[in-house]
Amino acid sequence: MGVGSSALNKVFDMMPPVLTGWIIDSVSGNPPWVLKMSVGTLPPLESAMVLSGVAVLIFGLESVFQWGYHVSFATLAQRLVHRIRMQVLGHMQTREMAFFDRHRLGDTLATVTDDVSQLERFITNGLNEWIQLGVLVVVSIIIMVSISWQLAAVAFLPIPIIVWGSLWYQRQMVPRFLAVRDRVGELNARLENWISGMVVVKSFTAEPLEHARATEASKAVMTANRSVITMMALYIPVIRLAVVGGFAGVLLIGSYWVLTDKGVLSLGELVLFAMLTERLLWPVTRLGSTFDELERSNASATRIERVLVPTTVTEVATPHRPSQVMGQLCFQGVSFSYPTAMATPVLHRLDLDIQAGSMVGIAGATGCGKSTLVKLLLRFYDPQQGAIYLDGVPIDQWAIRSLRQSIALVSQDVYLFHGTIYDNIAYGMPHATPEQVEAAARCAALHDVVTQFEQGYHTIVGERGIRLSGGQRQRLSIARAVLKNAPVLVFDEATSSVDTETEEAIQRQFATVTQGKTAIVIAHRLSTIRHADRIVVLHQGAVAEDGSHVALLRQGGIYARLWATQVGHHS
Ligand SMILES: Nc1ncnc2c1ncn2[C@@H]1O[C@H](COP(=O)(O)OP(=O)(O)OP(=O)(O)O)[C@@H](O)[C@H]1O
Ligand SMILES: [Mg+2]
Repeated sequence: MGVGSSALNKVFDMMPPVLTGWIIDSVSGNPPWVLKMSVGTLPPLESAMVLSGVAVLIFGLESVFQWGYHVSFATLAQRLVHRIRMQVLGHMQTREMAFFDRHRLGDTLATVTDDVSQLERFITNGLNEWIQLGVLVVVSIIIMVSISWQLAAVAFLPIPIIVWGSLWYQRQMVPRFLAVRDRVGELNARLENWISGMVVVKSFTAEPLEHARATEASKAVMTANRSVITMMALYIPVIRLAVVGGFAGVLLIGSYWVLTDKGVLSLGELVLFAMLTERLLWPVTRLGSTFDELERSNASATRIERVLVPTTVTEVATPHRPSQVMGQLCFQGVSFSYPTAMATPVLHRLDLDIQAGSMVGIAGATGCGKSTLVKLLLRFYDPQQGAIYLDGVPIDQWAIRSLRQSIALVSQDVYLFHGTIYDNIAYGMPHATPEQVEAAARCAALHDVVTQFEQGYHTIVGERGIRLSGGQRQRLSIARAVLKNAPVLVFDEATSSVDTETEEAIQRQFATVTQGKTAIVIAHRLSTIRHADRIVVLHQGAVAEDGSHVALLRQGGIYARLWATQVGHHS
């Protein structure tokens, strides 16, 4: 409907020159054949009246169709853009973590928002312009050729030059527009970084530095745009010259033919010709900006496609979806380096068996790969060598959803969503009852804190939970994991920010929470894990020591040394 309306609108838009030509010829006693055929030979004044009536009708129809294409293109754009946006977002969710390591947040956001709106602009305006341009050219050819093919040839002489010029222009613009979109993405990423790191920025009084960086990014956008503008500004005058050449040719040769009265052309037809050529001029000079829109959209589409690459963390055809998970874990010869840093292996032939229902503490120097182990377990990344088994089934055979639902993670970097404390605890558990949420909060020693807040569980925690203390945030994320009630619990430095007293309170609760569950507790503070069934010390990407607290102390290795420094001279 949009396409039809747009085309008809253009056809009616081209009628005034035709009517003007007809009126001139009718008034000078030489009515066109169309008029003679339809209403017979009328006196000049009556012909003019009929033609004026037709003109009113045509303007009316033109308006109706303008409304028609406007509404239908805008609606189409909204619908399409919604689909694309949701497809991008939906797909982005399935992308492997390495994708998010490689791409900066602001840049990815720019794809979802700006690039998608660019497509919207194109569908709302650009598509219509192309249709109307096509109709204009085709209808002009038909009208002009039917009157005088010789003069039409003169009028259309510049067209090949224009088309060739436009194609050349298009080739020049593609990389420039992509550069603009990329620079805008970088600027967004820069700003996102700056604003979310405001605490650090302010405390280090780094505002001038950040400002300078943002200025640089903004200048890069400006420079990239300037290279676009220079080309764009050149295009229109050059093309216009070509068009004007055609226009002047029509006037000159046409006048000559009318004056010499060879029967090639009537005066009315010359006026029609001149007006139509002029009508062509304006949209054709806009060909540049129409190409411009097309190219910008193309660049945006390219950027969207970059996101739509299939994920590397995939599922097998018939993934494992057990009804019950025991929680027995096994790492076998696991070697791993991050895709962004292939040269530095993090884990190297790591072997580790964890009995279902046991509690294992993991210790090791900072940066030795403890958190990485957990990320592999959740399949945020796949190891390059070796395999990880849950209940004897390799985790890459598991349905990703089943696997991740079996593991409750309290990650080292606590992330809270904007919303209430209640919503944050019940995150991903929409069916949890208020009693369950409260029980989980009690277990994380959070309940007493929450009840002191004026609005209790309905206190808004603010973006990233900035309205809570570090320890409160940690406890909230423990409560979240407890509520998940999964067969495998992973605590990555979950209590590092709470005082030892609160930690002990949490640990007493843990005994009941971890009953019958597999628990992996990662901690630098060894008192957190000293009561674990087993303690594993990671060193150089593999298990260096493995045993109970007492056994490891007796062994006198890394663990014993760490313990001695932590307990200090009190022991
Ligand atoms: N996304 C990533 N991309 C590239 N390298 C990474 C990434 N995350 C971590 N690393 C590197 O992998 C190594 C292990 O990191 P990991 O987070 O597993 O250490 P960790 O043992 O948990 O340390 P900590 O005790 O400080 O939490 C580090 O040297 C780190 O630089
Ligand atoms: Mg860590």
